Amino acid sequence: MTTWPTAELHIHMEGTIEAGLLVELARRNDVRLPSYDPDVLTARYDFADLQSFLDVHYSNLAVLRTEQDFHDLASAYLRRAANAGVRRAEIFFDPQTHLGNGVPFEAVIGGFDAAIAEATQTTGISADLILCFLRDLGADAAMETLQAALPFRDSFIGVGLDSTEVGYPPSLFTEVYAKAAAEGLHRVAHAGEEGGPDYVLEALDLLKVERIDHGNRALEDPALVRRLRDERIPLTVCPLSNVALRTAPSDLAQHPLGAMIDAGLLVSINSDDPAYFGGDVAENYRAIESALSLDAAQLATLARNSFESAFATEHEKAAWI
Ligand code: ADE
Ligand code: ZN
Repeated sequence: MTTWPTAELHIHMEGTIEAGLLVELARRNDVRLPSYDPDVLTARYDFADLQSFLDVHYSNLAVLRTEQDFHDLASAYLRRAANAGVRRAEIFFDPQTHLGNGVPFEAVIGGFDAAIAEATQTTGISADLILCFLRDLGADAAMETLQAALPFRDSFIGVGLDSTEVGYPPSLFTEVYAKAAAEGLHRVAHAGEEGGPDYVLEALDLLKVERIDHGNRALEDPALVRRLRDERIPLTVCPLSNVALRTAPSDLAQHPLGAMIDAGLLVSINSDDPAYFGGDVAENYRAIESALSLDAAQLATLARNSFESAFATEHEKAAWI
């Protein structure tokens, strides 16, 4: 099977923390984990839904304390990503989690920036950061986070919205997204992962997002599907994540990606939180290739879609495809 050159557009930096690194950082910073055996830790990664994953995910992030830790996390991801065919990565990060753990912005951004610069030097990978707001912490906290991030404005290219979806509709975040737009930042949001098609509509109409992260439940609204197709609005789809979090059937052959492709949507393949969901972006391509019996032309289209959906100039994209 081919490893496709791709852009990875839906990847949470914190969700790339492999169990081996988790243990190393816990020992480095004297942080308690339920086990110090990576195999035991990964055996516990069995999730009923998004929230049950988020609970484990946020608790693990207590191991990240210093600029060096953030550097090591990003370096490890970027090295693996380059090997998995990623030419361009637009990487989410959740500063509110780290600020809540008493880690200053400088340490988070400083570690990530240094790792990205080194990885670009050594592997040629292009990477930028997208700052995500945790929707369950609410709109005021999101606005405070954006204000606190503005001194580091040059270190991220956009804003996103993640964490617990249902009960926290995009409409709550209209003001902070307008502020981000005024700052010249790109805008994306998780929508339609567990929330309904109305969340996707709100993200488009109120947050004016340029991409939808997941978007699976958009398929429930035929008018919305036509709009996504006609306006070529990118959906960043994460097949193995959807199976792991039970937002899609356990049989990948039933994954909504098939219907999205048939509907002519601009869909790309991504890994979301690869340390938890059983595979990096290349493994997501392979899994979907065999489950949906995709041919080389269809896979090439998915790869091309990823570059088309990226926040980069046509000139940069031409070098990656
Ligand atoms: N944070 C990390 N992964 C996420 C996902 N799949 N959905 C929402 N928030 C997340
Ligand atoms: Zn995600």
